[in-house]
Formats: sequence, C-alpha cells, structure tokens
Amino acid sequence: MIQNDVNLQPFNTLAVPAKARFYAAVTDREQLPLLLAFARENNLPLLPLGGGSNVVLANDFPGLVLHMQLQGKTLVREDRSHYWLQVAAGENWHELVQYCLDARYWGLENLSLIPGSVGAAPIQNIGAYGVELKDVFAELEAVDVRTGECRVFDHGACRFGYRDSFFKREGRDRYLILSVTLRLARQPHVKVTYPALREALATVPVDQLTPRLVSDAVCRVRRSKLPDPAEVPNVGSFFKNPLVALDQFLSLQVQHPGMVSFPADARSVKLAAGWLIERAGWKGVRRGPVAVHHQQALVLTNAGHASGQEVLALAKEIHRSVADEYGVELEIEPRVYGQGEEIQ
Ligand code: FAD
Ligand code: EPU
Repeated sequence: MIQNDVNLQPFNTLAVPAKARFYAAVTDREQLPLLLAFARENNLPLLPLGGGSNVVLANDFPGLVLHMQLQGKTLVREDRSHYWLQVAAGENWHELVQYCLDARYWGLENLSLIPGSVGAAPIQNIGAYGVELKDVFAELEAVDVRTGECRVFDHGACRFGYRDSFFKREGRDRYLILSVTLRLARQPHVKVTYPALREALATVPVDQLTPRLVSDAVCRVRRSKLPDPAEVPNVGSFFKNPLVALDQFLSLQVQHPGMVSFPADARSVKLAAGWLIERAGWKGVRRGPVAVHHQQALVLTNAGHASGQEVLALAKEIHRSVADEYGVELEIEPRVYGQGEEIQ
C-alpha cells in the first residue's frame, strides 16, 4: 500500500519533478488508520494530494503523500427547494459540475472547468465568475490527522474568505477532508454579473439564460485565456488578487488611471493582480522554461523541465517588481511545499 520514492511529476499540473519519500493512493477510508499511524510513528509530515493543480513542489517531499482518490456521490437529503449532495473527496470537480447539470441540481455552473478534486475545493474556497464554493457549501467530513478522529465542519467552522478558509490557517496540515456536502437548488438562479461572463452571454435574452448556457459560456471564456494544464503545465492564478485599503486605492488610481479593481468591502478594494503584473511589463516574459502567460499575466507556465525553484524564482522577481511599482505586496495563491514560502 505504501510506496517509496515516488515521482510526483505526473501528479502536479505544474509538472515539476519532486519525489515523495512515501506515497499511498487512498481509495478507501479503511486504509486511513494504518496510514496515519505509520506517519505518526515515523514522525513524517503529511501531504494530502488531490489533482495537484494548486501546489508548487519546491523540493522532494520528505514525508507521506496521501493521494486522495475516494469516490462516490450520495443524495443525503432534499426538501422543496434544495438537494444536499455528499461527494467523496477524490471525485473530480468539473465532472461533478457536469453531473449536477445533468441531474438538474443547480448552483455549480459558474464553477465549471476548475481543475482538481472535490476534497480540495473548501481549502481555498474555490471561486470563479461571481460564485464561490461557500455559496453552495453545507458541511464537510474531515479526519484529524493527529488523533484519527472524524469531525464534521459546518459552514461557520470553515471560516471561508476570498481564496481562504480555516484549513489554510489554524487548521493547516491538521485535517484530511473525506467528503463535502453541497446544498444545490431545485430552481435555477443564473448569476451573470461577472463582466467577462456578462459579455460572453450578451446576445442571449435574460429570460432565456439557463445554467447550461452559463456553464458553456464559463468554459468558453476560461478556454480563451487560461492554458490547459494538460498541454501547458500551470497552476492557474499564481498570485491572489490583493486587497488594499480604500485610501491607498484612491491614491493609486490617481497615479495609474485605468487600474482594474473590484469592490471588496466598505474599507477595501480588490485589485486585479493580472493587470498590475501586465502593466509592470511581465506579460509574456520568459526565464528559461518558465514564462508569464501571454494571455493572462497571473498565470506562470512551465514550458519544459522547470523545477519548482525556478518557478518560484520568477514569482519572486514579479513580487518585487509589483511591490516597487505600486507598493502592493502580492501573495502566492497555490500552496508551496519546501523552500520559497517566505513570500506567501
Ligand atoms: P491539490 O493541488 O491537490 O491540493 C491543494 C491543497 O489542498 C494542498 O495543500 C493539499 O494538501 C490540500 N488538499 C487537497 N485535497 C485535500 C483533502 N482531501 N484534504 C485535505 N487537504 C487537501 N482555483 C479557483 O479557486 N478558481 C479558479 O478559477 C481556478 N482556476 C484554475 C485554472 C487552472 C488552469 C488551474 C491549473 C488551477 C485553477 N485553480 C482555480 C486552482 C485549483 O484548481 C483549485 O485550487 C483546486 O481546488 C485544487 O484542487 P486539487 O485537487 O488539484 O488540489
Ligand atoms: N487583466 C489584465 N491583464 C492580465 C490579466 C487580467 O489586465 O494579464 C485584467 C482583465 O482585463 C480584467 C481583470 O484583470 O479586467 C480580471 O481578469 P480575469 O477576469 O481574467 O480574472 P482574474 O482576476 O485574473 C480571477 C481568479 C481566477 C478566476 C477568475 C474568474 C484569482 C487569483 N484568480 O482571475 O481564478 O477564474 O478571476 O473569476 O482570484 C485561480 O484561482 O487559479 C483562477 C484562475
């Protein structure tokens, strides 16, 4: 069940080479007590891995990688307005979105085509085109890796934020998510407020919008600007869109008219990191095998045999340049394992 020195290159979408000292594919919950005991007894760090689309492996991993492949979907409850669907952590996110569209369980359409697994979705509260996981989330089951006990986290306990949750903060490295329960609507409520999505659907009369049309439009928009990791290895947005205080935003706007921003709350504004990086001159820049994507400056790509270190070196340059140019500190979005975490 446990393998030694496993190459993780095929298991991370940035396709960087890194070896796991120990590796196990988790296909059944029953495997977990033994695996967790093995890690505890040998004092090994754990790395739960889903689709590997939000990790940067800067070095070989000195512990146990648990490749989460638990499968299954169960309709656990329904009422007049909603369905509660419990989904195992190893299910593929986009396949789940398609399954829900076919079953007429509405609410996931804006989150179409996000790579990765269901179990990772709550970690950074995945979001796209005006919807976040938190909008459809009911609860999740997770195992405490220290005690082996299973615990249910309701919505409040997950403390979701923009690309953020309890599992990236206090609960970091402590829980293995086993299943996620989503609360999906019986009646469609299409949401097309995100500018690029509204544009893509501009020719469709509002009363003819359906979740399927929204999903198809999201897929089209995404394909037009995001590289497919199967062809061009990447981890999606490399940095978060930074939140800045309103007064800082107002003075930045005077210096840089046309700066793209989104409302956040009464006291802060979210800036488009892609815009900042592009305007700082980085779009299309290449350092050996690593490049800033020519259509989306927020995405770093690996054209050849880049290491995680090389990708992080370019990220560091971009971080410094944006800080010098705008006084804004970008934060890395994917989880970095090994060196390079200092600019997270
Ligand atoms: P992994 O990369 O395997 O893991 C990510 C983190 O979650 C790791 O720290 C890992 O340890 C932890 N983890 C994974 N599974 C579990 C588990 N079962 N229990 C505990 N911890 C776990 N994200 C968005 O939010 N919106 C987007 O629009 C978006 N677009 C993307 C586009 C592209 C082309 C790519 C490559 C990525 C994009 N992402 C986006 C990022 C990524 O798809 C999401 O973060 C996704 O949820 C990661 O899933 P994964 O299974 O690949 O996670
Ligand atoms: N922009 C530029 N230059 C660029 C890229 C973007 O000027 O090179 C501008 C765009 O013109 C637009 C604005 O920035 O005005 C926003 O761009 P876009 O709609 O492409 O979205 P984003 O802010 O770059 C975020 C998420 C994506 C998510 C999309 C859609 C973050 C860090 N990224 O990107 O998520 O799919 O919005 O909601 O929040 C991911 O997390 O991996 C990811 C891809």
